[in-house]
Amino acid sequence: MLIDSYDRVVDYLRVSVTERCNFRCQYCMPEKPFSWVPKENLLSFEELFLFMKIAIDEGVKKIRITGGEPLLREDLDKFIKMIYDYEPNIDLAMTTNAFLLKGTAQRLKDAGLKRINVSIDTLKPKIAQKIAQKDVLKNVLEGVDEALRVGLKVKANMVPMKSLNADEIIDVLRYCKERDISVRFIEYMQNSFASKEIEGLKSAELLDILRAKYEFSDDGFDGSSPSHYYTMSDGYRFGIIEPYEDDFCKQCNRIRLTAEGNLIPCLYFDEAMSISKAIKAGDIKAAGEVLREVVRTKPEKNRWGGDEGEISSRAFYETGG
Ligand code: GTP
Ligand code: 5AD
Ligand code: SF4
Repeated sequence: MLIDSYDRVVDYLRVSVTERCNFRCQYCMPEKPFSWVPKENLLSFEELFLFMKIAIDEGVKKIRITGGEPLLREDLDKFIKMIYDYEPNIDLAMTTNAFLLKGTAQRLKDAGLKRINVSIDTLKPKIAQKIAQKDVLKNVLEGVDEALRVGLKVKANMVPMKSLNADEIIDVLRYCKERDISVRFIEYMQNSFASKEIEGLKSAELLDILRAKYEFSDDGFDGSSPSHYYTMSDGYRFGIIEPYEDDFCKQCNRIRLTAEGNLIPCLYFDEAMSISKAIKAGDIKAAGEVLREVVRTKPEKNRWGGDEGEISSRAFYETGG
């Protein structure tokens, strides 16, 4: 079992398979980066899988594939199948923008994928175009429908932003509720890559909007999720993610791996250790040591937005949120 210095069990690995993305979301990657990680620096699926096996053997029970946009990586279903065949009980999930999901959902499900999280920031084509800087809405919604049709469990993420989609909170909730998709409203997290003019809604503002329309109870945090959950009288659950609060950190069970093999102990932490050399050499022992060392150095709580008002210097598209 992987246990950090604060007695938290680390059993959730988020794996970014590419930092590339086909969207240019205002809050994440408004411009194409100056350069992408060169292809030769990316870990191959065989190399990534070698590390997945080490992590699973050490006690990891949940693996979430992220990006960038993970579906841009060719043959992703084969990677999913490798993990599934090794340990079918792994909670195998993916965070995707859903643009390419329509043609791939069935294959991903057949390979062993169980769940997806998708951004649904708006239901208006023009606003979607503004947020992602591309005409994306039709594909995204069709992708979500297809995912549901093939039996993938779906959660939605919405980042409410003033002058963009703040007036759609109820509409997005309704859309998700009708499809039994749990929606999480996320407070915008400042980072040095995002568009400067974004103003995200705070959780108190979100709750005011929701309370004006619905009654719901406060369930607090649910296990390992960063989301604070609320339940409506008919049983529907939605969440709010407040990244600047550190309540979630007390039970944080995650570490992150970037596509080039940097293992990161916390979303809001610049330090990382590379597993690339050990993995490329097939040195399982050395890679396992890096994994345990990263778990040992996991900080007690996140560092960003605190008294010093620091903002994250790591791009979200590098770690997949
Ligand atoms: P599950 O709980 O496994 O469904 O996933 P998730 O909600 O963590 O994953 P998702 O990729 O959908 O991320 C949703 C939002 O949560 C994103 O904005 C992430 O940046 C944020 N998030 C993910 N991990 C952390 C974390 O460790 N701390 C905080 N504060 N926020 C996080
Ligand atoms: N602030 C809050 N959420 C963000 N995401 C990406 N960038 C940010 C940000 N700056 C969210 C997207 C996506 C999830 C993985 O991360 O909503 O669904
Ligand atoms: Fe948008 Fe996700 Fe792509 Fe970032 S990685 S630009 S949030 S779709």
